[in-house]
Amino acid sequence: MERIGVLTSGGDSPGMNPCIRAVVRAAIYKGLEVIGIRRGYMGLIENDIQIMDASSVSGIIYRGGTVLKTARSKEFMEKEGQEKAVENIKKLGIQTLIVIGGDGSFRGARVLDEKWDIPTIGIPATIDNDIWGTDFTIGFLTAVDTALEAIDKIRDTATSHDRLFLVEVMGRTSGFIALWSGLAGGAEDILIPELSTNLDEVCAELDEGRKRGKTSSIIIVAEGNKIGSAAEIASRIRKKTGYEERVVVLGHLQRGGSPCLWDRILGIRLGAAAVDAAVKKKRNIMIGIVNGEIKMSPLSDIGKKKKKINLDLYYLNRIMAT
Ligand code: F6P
Repeated sequence: MERIGVLTSGGDSPGMNPCIRAVVRAAIYKGLEVIGIRRGYMGLIENDIQIMDASSVSGIIYRGGTVLKTARSKEFMEKEGQEKAVENIKKLGIQTLIVIGGDGSFRGARVLDEKWDIPTIGIPATIDNDIWGTDFTIGFLTAVDTALEAIDKIRDTATSHDRLFLVEVMGRTSGFIALWSGLAGGAEDILIPELSTNLDEVCAELDEGRKRGKTSSIIIVAEGNKIGSAAEIASRIRKKTGYEERVVVLGHLQRGGSPCLWDRILGIRLGAAAVDAAVKKKRNIMIGIVNGEIKMSPLSDIGKKKKKINLDLYYLNRIMAT
Protein backbone atom coordinates (compact mmCIF):
# COMPACT_ATOMS: atom_id res chain seq x y z
CA MET A 1 0.00 0.00 0.00
CA GLU A 2 1.27 3.49 -0.83
CA ARG A 3 2.08 5.84 2.00
CA ILE A 4 2.00 9.59 2.19
CA GLY A 5 3.27 11.83 4.97
CA VAL A 6 1.70 15.06 6.19
CA LEU A 7 3.13 17.81 8.38
CA THR A 8 2.36 21.38 9.37
CA SER A 9 5.23 23.84 9.54
CA GLY A 10 5.93 27.51 10.35
CA GLY A 11 3.37 29.73 12.09
CA ASP A 12 0.10 27.91 12.80
CA SER A 13 -3.04 29.19 11.12
CA PRO A 14 -6.74 28.50 11.66
CA GLY A 15 -7.84 25.93 9.10
CA MET A 16 -4.77 23.72 9.34
CA ASN A 17 -6.83 21.14 11.24
CA PRO A 18 -9.62 20.83 8.65
CA CYS A 19 -6.86 20.51 6.07
CA ILE A 20 -5.08 17.71 7.96
CA ARG A 21 -8.44 15.97 8.32
CA ALA A 22 -9.07 16.29 4.58
CA VAL A 23 -5.65 14.89 3.68
CA VAL A 24 -6.16 11.91 5.97
CA ARG A 25 -9.73 11.13 4.96
CA ALA A 26 -9.16 11.66 1.21
CA ALA A 27 -6.03 9.49 1.31
CA ILE A 28 -7.78 6.66 3.15
CA TYR A 29 -10.66 6.89 0.67
CA LYS A 30 -8.13 6.42 -2.13
CA GLY A 31 -6.50 3.43 -0.42
CA LEU A 32 -3.38 5.21 0.87
CA GLU A 33 -1.83 5.07 4.33
CA VAL A 34 -1.04 8.32 6.09
CA ILE A 35 1.80 9.09 8.48
CA GLY A 36 1.41 12.31 10.47
CA ILE A 37 4.68 14.02 11.36
CA ARG A 38 4.56 16.14 14.52
CA ARG A 39 6.33 19.53 14.89
CA GLY A 40 7.06 20.04 11.18
CA TYR A 41 10.58 19.42 9.87
CA MET A 42 11.79 19.07 13.46
CA GLY A 43 9.61 15.99 13.86
CA LEU A 44 10.90 14.65 10.56
CA ILE A 45 14.46 14.85 11.88
CA GLU A 46 13.49 13.27 15.20
CA ASN A 47 11.12 10.71 13.68
CA ASP A 48 8.25 12.07 15.79
CA ILE A 49 5.38 10.43 13.93
CA GLN A 50 1.93 8.92 14.27
CA ILE A 51 -0.13 6.69 12.02
CA MET A 52 -3.27 8.59 11.06
CA ASP A 53 -6.46 6.60 10.68
CA ALA A 54 -9.85 8.13 9.93
CA SER A 55 -10.74 8.46 13.61
CA SER A 56 -7.45 10.21 14.47
CA VAL A 57 -8.86 13.36 12.86
CA SER A 58 -12.32 13.18 14.40
CA GLY A 59 -13.54 16.27 16.17
CA ILE A 60 -10.81 18.61 14.89
CA ILE A 61 -12.66 20.37 12.05
CA TYR A 62 -13.60 23.36 14.22
CA ARG A 63 -10.39 23.64 16.22
CA GLY A 64 -7.75 26.34 15.65
CA GLY A 65 -4.03 25.59 15.70
CA THR A 66 -2.74 22.25 14.43
CA VAL A 67 -3.08 18.86 16.09
CA LEU A 68 0.19 17.86 14.43
CA LYS A 69 1.88 20.81 16.16
CA THR A 70 4.32 23.01 14.29
CA ALA A 71 7.81 24.46 14.55
CA ARG A 72 10.38 26.55 12.74
CA SER A 73 13.39 24.21 12.49
CA LYS A 74 16.89 25.69 12.21
CA GLU A 75 18.40 22.19 12.13
CA PHE A 76 16.56 21.35 8.92
CA MET A 77 18.34 24.22 7.16
CA GLU A 78 21.64 22.34 7.64
CA LYS A 79 22.76 19.35 5.55
CA GLU A 80 22.97 17.04 8.60
CA GLY A 81 19.36 17.81 9.56
CA GLN A 82 18.18 17.16 6.02
CA GLU A 83 20.07 13.86 5.90
CA LYS A 84 18.38 12.66 9.09
CA ALA A 85 14.96 13.74 7.76
CA VAL A 86 15.49 11.98 4.42
CA GLU A 87 16.67 8.81 6.16
CA ASN A 88 13.48 8.76 8.25
CA ILE A 89 11.25 9.45 5.24
CA LYS A 90 12.83 6.52 3.42
CA LYS A 91 12.60 4.19 6.43
CA LEU A 92 8.94 5.07 6.83
CA GLY A 93 8.28 4.35 3.14
CA ILE A 94 6.71 7.77 2.56
CA GLN A 95 6.25 8.26 -1.19
CA THR A 96 4.96 11.83 -1.14
CA LEU A 97 5.24 14.38 1.64
CA ILE A 98 2.44 16.95 1.97
CA VAL A 99 3.65 20.16 3.62
CA ILE A 100 1.00 22.52 5.03
CA GLY A 101 2.58 25.91 5.72
CA GLY A 102 3.94 29.17 4.37
CA ASP A 103 6.81 30.23 2.13
CA GLY A 104 9.57 29.14 4.56
CA SER A 105 7.97 25.69 4.75
CA PHE A 106 7.86 25.51 0.96
CA ARG A 107 11.57 26.31 0.73
CA GLY A 108 12.11 23.20 2.86
CA ALA A 109 9.74 21.17 0.65
CA ARG A 110 11.66 22.24 -2.44
CA VAL A 111 14.97 21.23 -0.92
CA LEU A 112 13.56 17.78 -0.15
CA ASP A 113 12.23 17.39 -3.66
CA GLU A 114 15.02 18.91 -5.75
CA LYS A 115 18.06 18.01 -3.67
CA TRP A 116 16.99 14.73 -2.07
CA ASP A 117 14.48 13.38 -4.60
CA ILE A 118 11.60 13.18 -2.10
CA PRO A 119 8.33 14.09 -3.88
CA THR A 120 6.64 16.97 -2.07
CA ILE A 121 3.38 18.88 -2.40
CA GLY A 122 2.70 22.19 -0.62
CA ILE A 123 -0.59 23.53 0.72
CA PRO A 124 -0.55 27.29 1.52
CA ALA A 125 -1.48 27.99 5.13
CA THR A 126 -0.51 31.23 6.83
CA ILE A 127 -2.49 34.12 8.24
CA ASP A 128 -0.32 36.50 6.18
CA ASN A 129 -1.87 35.58 2.78
CA ASP A 130 1.50 36.40 1.21
CA ILE A 131 1.85 33.40 -1.10
CA TRP A 132 1.83 33.72 -4.87
CA GLY A 133 -0.22 31.10 -6.76
CA THR A 134 -3.29 31.25 -4.56
CA ASP A 135 -5.89 33.96 -3.99
CA PHE A 136 -6.18 32.92 -0.35
CA THR A 137 -4.03 31.07 2.13
CA ILE A 138 -5.65 28.93 4.81
CA GLY A 139 -6.14 31.04 7.94
CA PHE A 140 -6.10 34.51 6.41
CA LEU A 141 -9.82 35.21 6.57
CA THR A 142 -10.18 33.89 10.12
CA ALA A 143 -7.30 36.15 11.18
CA VAL A 144 -8.92 39.13 9.45
CA ASP A 145 -12.20 38.37 11.23
CA THR A 146 -10.37 38.25 14.56
CA ALA A 147 -8.64 41.56 13.84
CA LEU A 148 -11.94 43.09 12.73
CA GLU A 149 -13.73 42.00 15.89
CA ALA A 150 -10.98 43.66 17.93
CA ILE A 151 -11.14 46.84 15.85
CA ASP A 152 -14.92 47.05 16.35
CA LYS A 153 -14.44 46.78 20.11
CA ILE A 154 -11.67 49.35 20.10
CA ARG A 155 -13.99 51.66 18.14
CA ASP A 156 -16.44 51.61 21.07
CA THR A 157 -13.88 52.82 23.57
CA ALA A 158 -12.21 55.20 21.08
CA THR A 159 -15.56 56.88 20.48
CA SER A 160 -16.44 57.04 24.17
CA HIS A 161 -13.13 58.70 25.10
CA ASP A 162 -12.60 60.78 21.94
CA ARG A 163 -9.27 59.08 21.43
CA LEU A 164 -6.90 58.12 18.68
CA PHE A 165 -6.02 54.40 18.60
CA LEU A 166 -3.22 52.73 16.70
CA VAL A 167 -3.89 49.02 16.20
CA GLU A 168 -0.93 46.90 15.14
CA VAL A 169 -1.75 43.78 13.17
CA MET A 170 0.44 40.91 11.94
CA GLY A 171 1.38 40.08 8.37
CA ARG A 172 5.19 39.93 8.46
CA THR A 173 6.20 41.91 5.33
CA SER A 174 2.71 42.03 3.78
CA GLY A 175 -0.22 44.30 4.43
CA PHE A 176 -3.10 41.95 3.60
CA ILE A 177 -4.44 41.65 7.15
CA ALA A 178 -4.07 45.39 7.72
CA LEU A 179 -5.77 46.36 4.48
CA TRP A 180 -8.73 44.01 4.73
CA SER A 181 -9.41 44.55 8.43
CA GLY A 182 -8.83 48.31 8.10
CA LEU A 183 -11.24 48.71 5.18
CA ALA A 184 -13.91 46.55 6.84
CA GLY A 185 -13.39 48.25 10.21
CA GLY A 186 -13.67 51.81 8.86
CA ALA A 187 -10.09 52.77 9.74
CA GLU A 188 -9.11 56.39 9.30
CA ASP A 189 -5.75 55.27 7.90
CA ILE A 190 -3.92 52.03 7.11
CA LEU A 191 -0.12 51.82 7.10
CA ILE A 192 1.15 48.91 5.01
CA PRO A 193 4.63 47.76 3.94
CA GLU A 194 3.68 47.99 0.25
CA LEU A 195 3.37 51.81 0.40
CA SER A 196 5.61 54.46 1.90
CA THR A 197 3.87 56.60 4.45
CA ASN A 198 4.45 60.25 5.15
CA LEU A 199 3.69 60.85 8.83
CA ASP A 200 3.17 64.58 8.25
CA GLU A 201 0.38 63.67 5.83
CA VAL A 202 -1.12 61.22 8.33
CA CYS A 203 -1.15 63.99 10.97
CA ALA A 204 -2.60 66.50 8.50
CA GLU A 205 -5.42 64.04 7.70
CA LEU A 206 -6.10 63.57 11.41
CA ASP A 207 -6.31 67.36 11.81
CA GLU A 208 -8.65 67.60 8.80
CA GLY A 209 -10.84 64.91 10.34
CA ARG A 210 -11.01 66.80 13.63
CA LYS A 211 -11.99 69.95 11.78
CA ARG A 212 -14.82 68.01 10.10
CA GLY A 213 -16.03 66.95 13.53
CA LYS A 214 -14.37 63.56 14.02
CA THR A 215 -13.60 63.10 17.67
CA SER A 216 -11.88 59.71 17.48
CA SER A 217 -9.81 57.80 14.94
CA ILE A 218 -8.32 54.38 14.37
CA ILE A 219 -5.12 53.82 12.41
CA ILE A 220 -4.25 50.25 11.44
CA VAL A 221 -0.52 49.60 11.41
CA ALA A 222 0.84 46.50 9.65
CA GLU A 223 3.81 45.12 11.56
CA GLY A 224 6.10 45.23 8.50
CA ASN A 225 5.37 48.87 7.58
CA LYS A 226 8.23 51.14 6.55
CA ILE A 227 8.18 53.50 9.59
CA GLY A 228 8.24 51.41 12.75
CA SER A 229 6.10 49.80 15.43
CA ALA A 230 2.69 51.17 16.31
CA ALA A 231 4.16 52.43 19.60
CA GLU A 232 6.91 54.37 17.80
CA ILE A 233 4.47 55.84 15.30
CA ALA A 234 2.07 56.77 18.10
CA SER A 235 4.70 58.71 20.00
CA ARG A 236 5.73 60.58 16.84
CA ILE A 237 2.09 61.46 16.11
CA ARG A 238 1.63 62.64 19.70
CA LYS A 239 4.67 64.92 19.41
CA LYS A 240 3.37 66.40 16.16
CA THR A 241 -0.32 66.76 17.02
CA GLY A 242 -0.67 66.54 20.79
CA TYR A 243 -3.54 64.06 20.40
CA GLU A 244 -4.01 61.61 23.23
CA GLU A 245 -3.46 58.17 21.80
CA ARG A 246 -3.51 54.52 22.83
CA VAL A 247 -1.78 51.57 21.18
CA VAL A 248 -3.10 48.02 20.88
CA VAL A 249 -0.89 45.25 19.49
CA LEU A 250 -3.11 42.34 18.49
CA GLY A 251 -0.19 39.91 18.12
CA HIS A 252 -0.73 36.17 18.31
CA LEU A 253 -4.43 36.53 19.06
CA GLN A 254 -4.75 36.67 15.29
CA ARG A 255 -3.33 33.18 14.88
CA GLY A 256 -5.84 31.42 17.12
CA GLY A 257 -9.52 30.61 17.12
CA SER A 258 -11.94 28.35 15.35
CA PRO A 259 -11.48 28.51 11.56
CA CYS A 260 -14.20 30.47 9.77
CA LEU A 261 -16.41 28.82 7.15
CA TRP A 262 -14.12 29.80 4.27
CA ASP A 263 -10.94 28.52 5.92
CA ARG A 264 -12.62 25.18 6.59
CA ILE A 265 -13.84 24.85 3.00
CA LEU A 266 -10.45 25.96 1.68
CA GLY A 267 -8.58 23.56 3.96
CA ILE A 268 -10.80 20.67 2.90
CA ARG A 269 -10.58 21.45 -0.83
CA LEU A 270 -6.83 21.98 -0.87
CA GLY A 271 -6.18 18.94 1.33
CA ALA A 272 -8.23 16.63 -0.92
CA ALA A 273 -6.68 18.13 -4.07
CA ALA A 274 -3.18 17.53 -2.69
CA VAL A 275 -4.00 13.85 -2.20
CA ASP A 276 -5.34 13.66 -5.79
CA ALA A 277 -2.12 15.22 -7.02
CA ALA A 278 -0.05 12.74 -5.00
CA VAL A 279 -1.99 9.81 -6.50
CA LYS A 280 -1.27 11.26 -9.97
CA LYS A 281 2.44 11.38 -9.03
CA LYS A 282 2.63 15.18 -9.24
CA ARG A 283 5.50 16.64 -7.25
CA ASN A 284 7.38 19.82 -6.36
CA ILE A 285 4.14 21.78 -6.65
CA MET A 286 1.81 23.86 -4.50
CA ILE A 287 -1.96 23.47 -4.62
CA GLY A 288 -3.73 26.82 -4.50
CA ILE A 289 -7.07 28.35 -5.32
CA VAL A 290 -7.44 30.95 -8.08
CA ASN A 291 -10.84 32.39 -9.04
CA GLY A 292 -12.50 29.59 -7.12
CA GLU A 293 -10.67 26.83 -9.01
CA ILE A 294 -7.91 24.54 -7.78
CA LYS A 295 -4.59 25.48 -9.36
CA MET A 296 -1.21 23.74 -9.22
CA SER A 297 1.97 25.82 -9.43
CA PRO A 298 5.61 24.72 -9.37
CA LEU A 299 7.17 25.33 -5.95
CA SER A 300 10.03 27.09 -7.76
CA ASP A 301 7.57 29.79 -8.93
CA ILE A 302 6.23 30.32 -5.42
CA GLY A 303 9.71 31.18 -4.18
CA LYS A 304 10.37 33.64 -7.01
CA LYS A 305 7.09 35.48 -7.44
CA LYS A 306 5.60 37.97 -5.01
CA LYS A 307 1.84 38.14 -4.58
CA LYS A 308 0.55 41.64 -5.24
CA ILE A 309 -1.73 43.34 -2.79
CA ASN A 310 -4.80 45.02 -4.30
CA LEU A 311 -4.05 48.70 -3.74
CA ASP A 312 -7.53 49.63 -5.00
CA LEU A 313 -8.71 48.60 -1.53
CA TYR A 314 -6.30 51.09 0.02
CA TYR A 315 -7.52 53.97 -2.17
CA LEU A 316 -11.12 52.93 -1.55
CA ASN A 317 -10.46 53.25 2.15
CA ARG A 318 -9.06 56.75 1.63
CA ILE A 319 -12.41 57.71 0.08
CA MET A 320 -14.36 55.99 2.88
CA ALA A 321 -12.32 57.81 5.53
CA THR A 322 -13.13 61.29 4.24
O1 F6P B 1 3.71 34.15 9.47
C1 F6P B 1 2.74 34.25 10.46
C2 F6P B 1 3.17 35.22 11.53
O2 F6P B 1 2.15 35.26 12.50
C3 F6P B 1 3.51 36.62 11.03
O3 F6P B 1 2.38 37.41 10.79
C4 F6P B 1 4.37 37.12 12.15
O4 F6P B 1 5.27 38.11 11.69
C5 F6P B 1 5.12 35.88 12.59
O5 F6P B 1 4.36 34.77 12.14
C6 F6P B 1 5.33 35.76 14.07
O6 F6P B 1 6.10 34.62 14.27
P1 F6P B 1 6.32 33.94 15.70
O7 F6P B 1 5.08 33.22 16.06
O8 F6P B 1 7.47 33.02 15.48
O9 F6P B 1 6.61 35.05 16.66
